[in-house]
Amino acid sequence: MSADFGLKDKVAIVTGGGSRAPGIGNGRAAAVLLAGAGAHVVVVDSAPENMTQTQKLIAERGGSSLAVTADVTSPDACADVVAQAVGAFGRLDVLVNNVGVAGPPGTVVDVDLDAWEQCLRLNLNSMVLMSRAAIPRMRAAGGGSIINMSSAVGLAGGHPTVAYPTTKAAVVGLTRTMAAHHGPEGIRVNALAPGYVHTPMVHSQGVDGHAREQRRLAAPLATEGTGWDVGDAVLFLAGPRSRWITGVVLPVDAGLTATLGAAPSVTSACGPHPARRA
Ligand SMILES: NC(=O)c1ccc[n+]([C@@H]2O[C@H](COP(=O)([O-])OP(=O)(O)OC[C@H]3O[C@@H](n4cnc5c(N)ncnc54)[C@H](O)[C@@H]3O)[C@@H](O)[C@H]2O)c1
Repeated sequence: MSADFGLKDKVAIVTGGGSRAPGIGNGRAAAVLLAGAGAHVVVVDSAPENMTQTQKLIAERGGSSLAVTADVTSPDACADVVAQAVGAFGRLDVLVNNVGVAGPPGTVVDVDLDAWEQCLRLNLNSMVLMSRAAIPRMRAAGGGSIINMSSAVGLAGGHPTVAYPTTKAAVVGLTRTMAAHHGPEGIRVNALAPGYVHTPMVHSQGVDGHAREQRRLAAPLATEGTGWDVGDAVLFLAGPRSRWITGVVLPVDAGLTATLGAAPSVTSACGPHPARRA
């Protein structure tokens, strides 16, 4: 018997619910697991072909979904996504703001400023626009749950580029601020901070072989994470099992962020740490 997450007949939107390549991305896993828990899932992606596999996986499990092609950096498109969700399923309970990109290379000195602004639009503004459209509908439903996709790098410095970690840290601030603003309306807002998850996004950036193994060994649990690990955390935060939790940033990272700032002698107590041994 499958677990009851209290999501039967609830309505959930997952942005970036496709995956850019075959395999299980964070958005795809979240969409499939939410549908498996009985929710009607609105899968949103700017690339319609990326949603085909997500919908297939949902259908194979007997779930319900609607695919909506939309660019979540457009205010009108975000409003239309919410209108389509409510039009199809009558209400809105859950919003997963998953869209995010690696962004441009560079430091503040040399990052391309147009690319910087586009990264802000994709990784941060999209969450504001989708939430702005969704919250009035959640109020009408008597509450809701919003889950924003941050990253472990949003909790730490040391990343080689300035754009990605800056946007992911901003997602942390956005999440806490929204939780305070909308808690009195029964709307919970939490963030996930995935660590070295092996997804199609990561694979497409050429992370394989040695680099993949290094990522696996970098965290105390020394176990490779997948989109399903992130999706399971979404499932928990989406429904009433987390009804008393808002404003948190939950690392899903095999303990990676638990070692941040620790001296090598401390981290060695958690097992070998290749990045620091090297
Ligand atoms: N994989 C990791 O190691 C890792 C770690 C930390 C955080 N994350 C975060 O996870 C999220 C992505 O996860 P994923 O595995 O689902 O990625 P993915 O690249 O597989 O899928 C993202 C989807 O978003 C879609 N998309 C891109 N721009 C869009 C737009 N403007 N409007 C609508 N859709 C758009 C793409 O077409 C793609 O199908 C990001 O926020 C990323 O920062 C990933």
